[in-house]
Amino acid sequence: MNDTVLDAIRTRRTVRAMTAAATMLLAAHSLGLGAGPVTSFSRTALATVLNLPAGVRPELIICLGHAATEQPPAMRRQGARRWDDLIHWERGKVEG
Ligand SMILES: Cc1cc2nc3c(=O)[nH]c(=O)nc-3n(C[C@H](O)[C@H](O)[C@H](O)COP(=O)(O)O)c2cc1C
Repeated sequence: MNDTVLDAIRTRRTVRAMTAAATMLLAAHSLGLGAGPVTSFSRTALATVLNLPAGVRPELIICLGHAATEQPPAMRRQGARRWDDLIHWERGKVEG
């Protein structure tokens, strides 16, 4: 397989994994559970601990649990955000 095909396969796998992760986060929320994704970890160590087969690479951990009833104060206050604040619109330049 050439690099382009391998890149396409990796991209598709990543999109699937992240879609599954987003669905799991929503499911946890709907069950009243706290959930938080983590990507900073040793992939090698986790693969060893979980005895993952060769070629299976852990991409994301989702921590699940019952959220504490008392929450620490937010680190910084944010005013109410609107969708407009989160969206950036731009068009690429058409060559030629
Ligand atoms: C894609 C993604 C990856 C993340 N990776 C980490 C991580 O590696 N370590 C970490 O402490 N928080 C990570 N976070 C943030 C945590 O999931 C969590 O939101 C953050 O620790 C704040 O938690 P808190 O609101 O309970 O304080 C990540 C968040 C996202 C969306």
